[in-house]
Amino acid sequence: MTDGEEIIRIEGLKAFYATPRGLLKAVNDVSFSINKGESVGIFGESGAGKSSIALAIMGVFNKQAKMFVAARGNEEMKRLWTLKEKAMKKGLTSEEIGEELPGVEGHIWFKGQDLLALDEKEYRKIRGNEITYVPQASRSSMNPYTEIDLQTAEALWAHDEDNILWEREVIRRVLTVLDLVEIADVDIRRKMKPSDFSMGEDQRILIAMALIMNPVLMIADEPTTAVDVGVQQRVMDAIQIVRDKLDISLLLISNDQGLIAQTTDKVGVMSAGYMMEFGKTLTIMKRPGHPFTRAFIMSNPPMHLIRKIREKGLKIRGIPGKVPDMVDLPSGCPFHPRCEYAIDRCREELPEYREVEEEHWVRCHRFEVLPEFEL
Ligand SMILES: Nc1ncnc2c1ncn2[C@@H]1O[C@H](COP(=O)(O)OP(=O)(O)O)[C@@H](O)[C@H]1O
Ligand code: SF4
Ligand SMILES: [Mg+2]
Repeated sequence: MTDGEEIIRIEGLKAFYATPRGLLKAVNDVSFSINKGESVGIFGESGAGKSSIALAIMGVFNKQAKMFVAARGNEEMKRLWTLKEKAMKKGLTSEEIGEELPGVEGHIWFKGQDLLALDEKEYRKIRGNEITYVPQASRSSMNPYTEIDLQTAEALWAHDEDNILWEREVIRRVLTVLDLVEIADVDIRRKMKPSDFSMGEDQRILIAMALIMNPVLMIADEPTTAVDVGVQQRVMDAIQIVRDKLDISLLLISNDQGLIAQTTDKVGVMSAGYMMEFGKTLTIMKRPGHPFTRAFIMSNPPMHLIRKIREKGLKIRGIPGKVPDMVDLPSGCPFHPRCEYAIDRCREELPEYREVEEEHWVRCHRFEVLPEFEL
């Protein structure tokens, strides 16, 4: 369900960590947008920068990246962050300073304003309210001592600055969202604690918590990773219900290609901090254009593609070679040491991220001359 109105536009996003070995470019020149009611997925190798995009949108990347540096960083890492803070105060970019800096840069346009230009006080009005985040179900993602109805209501109370919400209204909204994600017998079980629920139910309760504010955009990072294979489908179904029944936009970060195929309209594919390909999920899953996407899907295909792959006589196999070192990326295209189609140009020149057909973006020099590939 999408009516074409753009909700969020990420433009030239960079998110770098300062590490003892140098800058780790977790997100590098990433651009994409999400329309109203649209569900966009991001998949790609572990460590490719997917979660860093979520942290940047939530406005917490700099804080998290700095935390380690303040406690255990070396002099150089601290110098870079001091420089970054000065640059931010003056509204200057790395380019204007003449040195690559850690932290976030670029633009995140949301309702006509650039989130990256907001101060913390302004961000707090958006974070957890208009844009919400679903963490992975784990011991630390919920309060083990508090009943789930109170935890689910927490964001409502927190944003009710004028104290105008009636308790009855809060309970009604809590029951509505818990019911939506199909927690059975909510009217009785709402008084139970997280440990009384299965991990799959906890994950769905976390989704309910992210929905209670009626957000414009909900971001879920690996929502099916922490739960058992047996209950993954229930979590997927809950996301599917959210997508069908509510008019919100979703950003789903996941290596679960089944989840991506089932619940997203568009998908971006990441490797080494770069968005290698972005387009309609149906296109990307059926006719992946980028050599990395092809190799990645073939390394861990979703169930529904396995039969097709066998019928076509193709082999399921891991991507040969090593995942690139994010502090010391290969020259040119970061995929070139592992790409079977690489030519000299690929070793020398970073490919541009370009729109090769309507709503289909690819970062590859050789897209037009690659052999046909269809699943
Ligand atoms: N706090 C941190 N400090 C330094 N490097 C980090 C930190 N958090 C993540 N990284 C590194 O940043 C890269 C991207 O991480 P992440 O965004 O979590 O990737 P993904 O979600 O795709 O697995 C990885 O190489 C990871 O090791
Ligand atoms: S630019 Fe070259 S190395 Fe990179 S994916 Fe395309 S063909 Fe492969
Ligand atoms: Mg991650």
